[in-house]
Amino acid sequence: MGHERICAVDDVSFTIKRGEFCCLYGASGSGKSTLLNLMAGIEKLTSGQIIIKGRNVHRMSEKGLAKFRQNNLGFVFQSYNLMNAMTALENVELPLVFKHMGNKKRKKLAKDMLVKVGLGSRLKHKPKEMSGGQQQRVGIARAFVDNPEIVFADEPTGNLDSKTSKEVMELIKEMANTNHQTIVMVTHDSELTKYADKIIHILDGKIEEIEELKTDHLNDEDEDCIENSDEVIADIS
Ligand SMILES: Nc1ncnc2c1ncn2[C@@H]1O[C@H](COP(=O)(O)OP(=O)(O)O)[C@@H](O)[C@H]1O
Ligand SMILES: [Mg+2]
Repeated sequence: MGHERICAVDDVSFTIKRGEFCCLYGASGSGKSTLLNLMAGIEKLTSGQIIIKGRNVHRMSEKGLAKFRQNNLGFVFQSYNLMNAMTALENVELPLVFKHMGNKKRKKLAKDMLVKVGLGSRLKHKPKEMSGGQQQRVGIARAFVDNPEIVFADEPTGNLDSKTSKEVMELIKEMANTNHQTIVMVTHDSELTKYADKIIHILDGKIEEIEELKTDHLNDEDEDCIENSDEVIADIS
């Protein structure tokens, strides 16, 4: 930044197993979002590597990375990032439009997903006609509609009240459990870490502690496959 060199994430190394719910937890400014964006290939590394499903994220071409993201990753944002001119249904269809899925199949998948998140009666509503909690449900439907293996979420309940936050968190957890998806979620709220299998405590861009909690739902097959390609490995030096 200007002449000052900001080291947002430094000397960080960890592995996330397939199906794990992982929280990156720490105070504001500790480097959580930067780390998440590095993992998802959105920001560039200066050194180190991120391996997802055996692929080195930062060695891919722009095009290859875009395709990889499209095929494997979903995103949920704090401020929902919905298209305001589009209906809930059209917003959820969007990732499928980019994959050139046919109109009929796309509409059905998006509709089924909105029913799943409890918005079956809001298909034609635009974001401005919905509450924050409803908008985030649309965001979740959009993130999961293409059944990505990994969903990245940066403070997904940061703009919601505590009751709605709880509902949204439970929805994310339920969606992820259904298809054994991996969740990487950034939060500064200790209350939300209770949903996690693994909590990575971040302080000043470094890992302070890694807390491993319950992992019974991760089956043995996954526990054994260190060399297999299902994991997310971050190794930033
Ligand atoms: N684009 C940027 N340019 C310069 N500094 C940045 C940029 N983005 C973030 N930072 C700095 O990097 C550090 C980590 O930021 P961030 O990853 O957003 O933290 P968190 O998500 O934990 O609040 C902070 O000190 C922040 O000021
Ligand atoms: Mg942040």
